[in-house]
This record gives sequence, C-alpha cells and structure tokens, in this order.
Amino acid sequence: LLSQIGPDAHLRMILSKQPGQRTVDDLEIIYEELMHIKALSHLSTTVKRELAGVLIFESHAKAGTVLFNQGEEGTSWYIILKGSVNVVIYGKGVVCTLHEGDDFGKLALVNDAPRAASIVLREDNCHFLRVDKEDFNRVLRDVEANTVRLKEHEEDVLVLEKTNNRGSTSSPLKYTVMSGTPEKILEHLLETTKLDSQFTESDPALDDFLLMHCVFVPNSQLCPLLMRSFTYHAQPSQGSEQERMDYSLNNKRRVIHLVLQWAAINTDHLQEEDSSFHFLQEFYETVCEDSRLIPALKDQLPELKKIIKQNPSPSFQHKVLLRQFSTGNDRLQKKQPIKSTDEILFKVYCSDHTYSTIRVPVSASVREVIAAVTDKLGSGDDLLLIHLNSAGDKELLKPSDVSIFSSLSINGRLFVCPRDQIDSLTPLPEQEGPSAGSMSTFELMSSKDLAHQMTLYDWELFDCVHEHELIYHTFGRQHFKKTTANLDLFLRRFNEVQLWVVTEVCLCPTLSKRVQLLKKFIKIAAHCKEFKNLNSFFAIIMGLGNPAVCRLSQTWEKLPSKFKKFYGEFENLMDPSRNHRAYRLTVAKLEPPIIPFMPLLIKDMTFTHEGNKTFTDRLVNFEKMRMIANTVRIMRYCRSQPFNQEAPQATGKSHQDVRSYVRHISVMDNQRTLSQLSHRLEPRRT
Ligand code: CMP
Repeated sequence: LLSQIGPDAHLRMILSKQPGQRTVDDLEIIYEELMHIKALSHLSTTVKRELAGVLIFESHAKAGTVLFNQGEEGTSWYIILKGSVNVVIYGKGVVCTLHEGDDFGKLALVNDAPRAASIVLREDNCHFLRVDKEDFNRVLRDVEANTVRLKEHEEDVLVLEKTNNRGSTSSPLKYTVMSGTPEKILEHLLETTKLDSQFTESDPALDDFLLMHCVFVPNSQLCPLLMRSFTYHAQPSQGSEQERMDYSLNNKRRVIHLVLQWAAINTDHLQEEDSSFHFLQEFYETVCEDSRLIPALKDQLPELKKIIKQNPSPSFQHKVLLRQFSTGNDRLQKKQPIKSTDEILFKVYCSDHTYSTIRVPVSASVREVIAAVTDKLGSGDDLLLIHLNSAGDKELLKPSDVSIFSSLSINGRLFVCPRDQIDSLTPLPEQEGPSAGSMSTFELMSSKDLAHQMTLYDWELFDCVHEHELIYHTFGRQHFKKTTANLDLFLRRFNEVQLWVVTEVCLCPTLSKRVQLLKKFIKIAAHCKEFKNLNSFFAIIMGLGNPAVCRLSQTWEKLPSKFKKFYGEFENLMDPSRNHRAYRLTVAKLEPPIIPFMPLLIKDMTFTHEGNKTFTDRLVNFEKMRMIANTVRIMRYCRSQPFNQEAPQATGKSHQDVRSYVRHISVMDNQRTLSQLSHRLEPRRT
C-alpha cells in the first residue's frame, strides 16, 4: 500500500511534475495509488481521476518544520503519506497528532477562515500529498466529507458539518458547528469571525452562541474563558515579529468584538451579576493597557467605555419595588422591564384567609418565600407554599421553583400552611371574579380604540420581555435563578384577554345584548389583526371558541352573516393543522412591528428542547442551540420596528378611559362556573 511503503521513486517523480505535464499513463499510475488512501476512500472514481491531475507531492526532511501557522490564510489541503505531524494551538500546545492516511487543512479552505492550528512535523522525512486551494474548490469542495471531527487529546472537541449556510441556496456549503465543547466552540467562533466586514453584518453563528451560552456556559464561566491564553491573551509562538503582531491584534479585536456583542445581547442585565460587572471592568482596563503597545486597539475603546457606563456597579443600583400585578402605568408611565434583582411585595394567605405581605427579590425561590413567610408569621411549623386557583385546585410548589408570583393562574393566589391543612384550603371570595359584566362600559368605546389601547398595552408587555427569558422559560427557569416575569406577564395577558371574552358573554343575560357583544369582539379582533397584534387577536378568537361561548347557539344564530363570515375566516387562521400552517403563512407576509401569537413561539421552542438532547457526553448540541436561537430571532424580528400607530379618533369615551379599562380587566377564570352560567343563559335544547 502506498501509505505503508511510501511512493516509489517513479511515482514520486510523476507526482513532482507540474500537473499540466502529466501523461495519460502518469495519471493512471497516480489514480491506482489513490485507491489505497484512507482520506480519499469516500470519494467517487471520477473525483479521484480528477485529483490525479492536480495532486502535488511534497516532502520535508526535518522534524520541527512548520507546514503552516495558526492564523494564516489557508492555501492547501494535505494528506499524510508517510510520517506524522503535531497539531499545535497557541496557548494550548500540541492538541493532537495526525498519522499516515490522515488529512488536515480543509477547514480554512472551505470556510475561508484563518488556519485553526499550526501543523508541525513530528519526525524527519515526512511525505504529503497536497491539493492547492483553487483545485480543492473546483474538485473537492462540494464532495469532500460532510462531517469533520476535531480531536484534542484523543477526544472529540468539535464536530462540524457541511451545510448550506442559513438555508440560502446561492451561498457555498460551509462547515457549521454541530456540536462541541463550550471552549472549542468559542475558540472556533472567535477564529471564524470576519473582521473585514467592519462588524456591520452580525455573524449568525456568533449570535447563536451569545444568545444560548447561558444554557451550557454561564457568564460566570464564559468571562474567565475570554481572558485565557487561547482567547484574548493568545500569544503566537511562530512566525516573524510582524506576523505575530498582526495575529495578536486581530485576535484581540475579535475578542473585543465578541464582548461588545455579548454586552449588547445582555442589555442592562449584566448589572445583575457581580462577576460580569467585574469582568467588564477588568476587560476594559486590559484593553486600555494593551492599546498603549498596540495603538490600533484604540478604535474599539470608546464602544467599550460606553458599555461600562451603561452598566453601573451592582452596588450602586437601587432596587425597584413592585407590587404584585400592579400594572404600574396608571401615571401614563411606560412599563419598565422587571429585573431579577427587583423586589416584590405580595400577599400570601393562610387557611383562615388572613394574609401576610412579604417582600422578596423577584427571582426568589419557593424555599426563600417560605422562609420569609415563616419569619413573618413567627411560625414553628414546616410550611408549604400552595397555588390555589379559583376552582379550589391546589398545586404544591416545588422548593426550587423561582419567580412564582408571575406564573399564577389569572385569579390564583398563594397560600401557605402545614401539610395537614392542605385539604382544608378554600379560595378567597375575591378569586371568583366579577358578578356582573362590564359591557355597559365598553360598548360606549369604539372597537378600534379598544383594539388600539389593547395593542399599546401588549406592546409594553412584549417590549419588556428579554430574549433570554424565552431561553430560561424553555430550559426551566429554576436552573438559571433568573426571572421570567416579563414573559410570564405577557403570556398571562393572553389568558386574561381570552377569559375577558368568555366572562363578558357569560355575564350578559339578554340575548340581543349578547349578539351585540359577539359583534363587538369580532370587530375588536379584526382591528387587532390590522394592528398586527396577533396575540390579542388570537386571544379573542379563542375566547369566542371557548365551550361556554360557542355552545350558545341562539346567540350565534342571530349574528349577522357578515360577522359569521369574518369569524369563520379568523377561525381558519387558528387552524392548528399542518403545524399552524395558516397562521405561519400569514405572519410571514407581515412587516414588523408585529406582536406574534406568543404561545406558539413558546411551543416551538419547547418542542425543539424536548426533542433534542442538550449534551452528548461533553459536547454541546449546538444544532439544537441554533434552532432555538432561530425562534428567538423571530421575536427579535417582530420587534425590530417600534410600534407607533397613531391613536384613532376618539369617539364616545376618551382614550384615557379606554386605556384604563383595557388595563384593568377583571375576569372569571373558573371554567366550571363559566359553563354553568352559559347553561343558565341557554339551557340545552331537548
Ligand atoms: P485548518 O484550520 O485549515 O488548518 C489546521 C488544521 O488542523 C485544521 O484545518 C484541521 O484540519 C486540523 N486539526 C486537527 N485537529 C484540530 C483541532 N483540535 N483543532 C483545530 N484544528 C485541528
């Protein structure tokens, strides 16, 4: 075998010829030899025949010879015919050894990226076959193995697969990360960051990493990694002084770029963590210092400084005190996002319906809430925390759960009691909700105005949701000890609007009035749709589809056919078949600003999460991260334009009244009670 005995003198002579000078016989001899090379075994006969015309023989006599250096532009792909080489990475040293039959150097060619490692001869007298970049691109690029596994110290650290970048069929296939250790993924992304594009277009893979890293490498681990000897402080050990300077500069700029993007994605949440705050400080100082030796680094200093200013020290921050369910905007003030470190006041009830008000951080765990109540009550009992809904159903809260106040059911309350009292807990009278409808108030308001004010409110809630909250929600917020309160409140609003529709209809005793109500809700839904508020649109349509409402056949019969037709169309949009195809097609045609049907986005992410492992052994399933990040980016796209639809002309009630009405909706959330009311309105026909 060629790889065992090495090419004989004749073959070597042929391979040393300029490709253009090789005769038909020469090509045949080379082709015969190629059949035996492991690195080529997956290639077709045609490709091997073409390769025979372009392969070049290269040999080096001395161990220690550097074939190429990390950071350089890639010019060739190599196969080892004889001997072995070390793969060397700055700051890490020799990470693995490659032997006869192994190949290396295609990453840089396929991805148009700098060399990910240096290749150094491990022994004297090594032989290689070389394919230069142009030939590689012409002959091999599209047929070369789809999967590349990089190893360090005998273990896989990065698995790459050739994919069509971001689904665009025009761009060439590139190797994208499928899985890897957090460290190696970071290293790879830093290396492949393009510096020439002036950082204007964001790199999707880097964005995936920055959105998702909290799942597999939290800030407390990421920050130290960024300062390590294979990242910011990487020192090239080979090349001329100029080459080393260039490498160092480029490398540092990439890390700075990453840190800037990281801070941008985290927005002001970095303030919540001491470790991130200290890292930013330290990083800024390091770059300042370095810029004295490497003046080109000065360009990025102002941006870094801006971020430091935006993120004051955690100890300077004053905590915001929230009240449970306060809509916080009675003073016409825009809602501010709730942070994990904010504190909240809320009531926890005892079995006798007395309550205590406790004050805890928003992200407090159930365990901490119980401790606070126990303290307040001066109780010696072992207390449990229970979520009690208006129907009297009890849910025992897990000690590790966090941010519970925002995920109660609409009229749900928190109760605390010793285990033996759980059965005797009863809901508070106020949990039942209103006993009369509010139609007389809102029938005076124009449907468009109502839809507009609902949309403004939805926008405020939607705008407060941090991208990371979607991830915490999907992977289980208790793992992060971060609040998902803004997302919870937005999802809660969906339920509230839905129940508002059901409650109003069920509390409307007069048939003709009920018909008016249906018309009103259909009109509001239509306006919500016009405002591209699909969340409230769906909430209303789902409210109308609630069993307690849709069974009211006498009411529906009297609905004018025009409205029936609209309602029918709207219902079709909600058709869940073929994975909500109707809805997805509709949204795809809309331009931002859009308020999406949030429960579906959440469902998509949960589906991806549950269907795919996060880790296999030590490797992060980065493909899963990419899929979830894609869904997060849908939300980003929806919010990429501000909502500034002008208020419609006020008719009847003033905007202020409408605004206040839509923000203080009170509802019944007990399906059994709603059904009973519905049956009383229109008993089953026999
Ligand atoms: P390329 O980046 O073109 O140049 C260096 C080559 O080293 C790289 O392609 C891979 O083919 C090879 N290599 C092998 N193991 C590793 C590793 N652990 N990290 C980086 N490169 C590696």
